[in-house]
Amino acid sequence: MEKEFIRNFCIIAHIDHGKSTLADRLLQITGTISDRQMVEQVLDSMELEREKGVTIKASAVRMLYRHSSGKEYELNLIDTPGHVDFSYEVSRALMACEGALLVVDATQGIEAQTLANLYLALDADLTIIPVINKIDLPSARVAEVAQEIQNLLGTPPEEILAVSAKEGTNVEKVLEAVVERVPSPRGDTSLPLRALVFDSHYDSYKGVVAYVRVFDGMIRPEDTLRVMSSGIDFRPVEVGIFSPDMRPVSVLSAGEVGYVATGLKTVSECRVGDTITSSTSPAAEPLPGFRHPKPMVFAGIYPVENEDYERLKEALEKLQLNDASLVFQPEKSQALNFGFRCGFLGLFHMEIIQERLEREYDLDIVVTAPSVEYEVVLRTGEVVRIDSPALLPDEGLIEEIREPWMVVQIFTPMEYYGTVMDLVRRRRGIFREQEYPAPNRVQLTFEIPLSELIVDFFDELKSRTRGYGSMDYHFAEYRPGDLVKLEVLVAGEPVDALATIVHRDQAYHKGQALVSKLKEVIPRQLFDVAIQAAAGGRIISRANVKALRKDVLAKCYGGDVTRKKKLLEKQKRGKKRMKMIGNVEIPQEAFLAVLGLE
Ligand code: GTP
Repeated sequence: MEKEFIRNFCIIAHIDHGKSTLADRLLQITGTISDRQMVEQVLDSMELEREKGVTIKASAVRMLYRHSSGKEYELNLIDTPGHVDFSYEVSRALMACEGALLVVDATQGIEAQTLANLYLALDADLTIIPVINKIDLPSARVAEVAQEIQNLLGTPPEEILAVSAKEGTNVEKVLEAVVERVPSPRGDTSLPLRALVFDSHYDSYKGVVAYVRVFDGMIRPEDTLRVMSSGIDFRPVEVGIFSPDMRPVSVLSAGEVGYVATGLKTVSECRVGDTITSSTSPAAEPLPGFRHPKPMVFAGIYPVENEDYERLKEALEKLQLNDASLVFQPEKSQALNFGFRCGFLGLFHMEIIQERLEREYDLDIVVTAPSVEYEVVLRTGEVVRIDSPALLPDEGLIEEIREPWMVVQIFTPMEYYGTVMDLVRRRRGIFREQEYPAPNRVQLTFEIPLSELIVDFFDELKSRTRGYGSMDYHFAEYRPGDLVKLEVLVAGEPVDALATIVHRDQAYHKGQALVSKLKEVIPRQLFDVAIQAAAGGRIISRANVKALRKDVLAKCYGGDVTRKKKLLEKQKRGKKRMKMIGNVEIPQEAFLAVLGLE
C-alpha cells in the first residue's frame, strides 16, 4: 500500500490495564478476526490453553480500516513486551512504530512501568495517543487520570480518549485517532533494503521467523537476503504478514511491517535489533542501536532425577531457539550433580523459563538461588568474573570484589514515601532524587546493588505500598563492596548450591535468618540433621532439624477443609521438587530460602 495510507503503532500499558483487551477489540472492529474466532480464543484461555491463543496475539498484526473519509488504511499493531526485564526488546518494537497508544486504567492511574515505556516512546519520537480505559467501572476516576496525563504530556483534555475496551465504548475513536494523528511512515523504496528485526519466533518448518519493519527498499521472497550483524546470507522461505495468521505476500515495501521466514536454525543468527538487507546490493550502514542481550541474573537449574539431565538439556536448547537472551552452560554441583548454569535478563525472565520447563516439558527441576555476576580482582592482579557464589576463590586470594549497581526508579503514592525509603535503605540503596510527575505521586530514584534487587525486592515493594508502587531499573556500573561468601553446611557437609555472597555487615544476621528458615523448610528425616551457616571460615549459626516427619496439618487451626487441602496439595507439589543431598532430602524452597532474608 502507498505509504500515506500506512500507520504503524503500538500499545503501551501497565500490566492489567487492558492492553490485550483493547487489542482484541481493535481486531474485532476491523474484522481482522471474526466474532467466532474471538469466542474460541476466550474459550481457549479458559481451558488454560493460552498458548493456542498466541497466534491471535501475534506481535505484529495488520488490520485494514476504512476511515470515515472513505479511504482504506493499513494499520499495523505492534506488540511490546510488558516487563522491565525486556526493555531492549521494547525499544526495538517502538522503533518500528510512528505512534503509541498510552493505555491507562481509569481506576489506577499512571504507574512506573508505564512511565518507563512512555519515556522510551518519547525518545523514539512517537506520537502518543492517551487512552483512559475501564471507564465502565464505578471506581473509574476519569477526570483525575486525565489530569495526570495532561500534567505529564501536556495533552489537552479533549484529545484524551476515554474508553471501555471490555464493552467496546469509544473504541472506534481509537482507530480514527490512529489514522488522524499518527504520521505515515517515511522511507524510500528506491534505496537498498534495510529492515529492522523487532521480534522473532522459531518455526520447525520455516526456521527463524523474523518480524520486520522495512525502513528502506523492498523485500521480495525471491531475493537473497543478509543479516547485517553476522553477515549470514539466506533465501527466505516465505515473506508475509500477520493478519493475524501468517499470510504470504509478494512484497513488503518501505514503511510496511511483516515477517520474513528465514530458514535459519537459531534466533541467535538473526537477533532482535538486527538489520536485514539485500545480499546483492547491501545497505552501507545497518539501522542504529543493535546490541547483544546481556544476562544480569544467574541461577543453576538441575533435574530432580539425574536421568532427566539430557531431557533438560534438550528443553533448554529448544527454549533458546526462541529466546536469544537465555544463555546456559553445563555445571556440576557437588550437592546437585549435573545441571546448567543459566543466565537471564532478570528475575521475571528466570521465572518464565522455570515455568516453561515444568509446564511445557514436564520436567521436575530445582532452581538454585539467583546470583548476579561479580568481578573479582585477585591479589595477582587478574580479574575474574563469577556468576556462581560457589566459584568465589578463597578470601586470602582476593584483593577486591565488585558487584553490579543499578539505578532504580520507584513510583508510588505519597503516603508510602516513608516505607519505600526504609525498604531501599535496608537493601543498601542510596537515595538520589525525587520528582512529582503526577498529583499525589512521587517518583524516587535510587542506586542499589542488583543483588539486593533480585531478592524479592519487587514483592516487598508491592506489599509495602498495597500494590500501588511500581518500579523500573537499569544497569549503572560495577562498584567494589565488602562482600563475603555465606556458606551453608547440612549434616556437616558444605552445600555449594546453598552458598550466597553477602555484604560483610549483614553476614551474621543473614546467616542466622537463613539457618532458621532452612530449619523450617527442610522436612524432618529419620535422624537429626544439623544446619550451619559459615562466613569467612567461621560458623556463625547452627540449628537442628529434629528427627521424625512433621505433621503439616498441625499448622491448620480450625476445620477449614479447603485450607487443609491446599496445604496438602502444596506439600505434594513440593515433594516432587526434592533433591537428595547425601542422605538428606532438600526441597526447592530451601534453595530459594536466601530470597527474602532481611
Ligand atoms: P497483561 O496481558 O497481563 O499485560 O495485561 P493487559 O494489560 O493486556 O490487560 P488485559 O487486557 O488482560 O486486561 C486485564 C483485566 O482487565 C482483564 O480482567 C480484563 O477483562 C479487564 N479489562 C480490560 N479492559 C477493561 C474495561 O474496559 N473494563 C473493565 N471493567 N475491565 C477491563
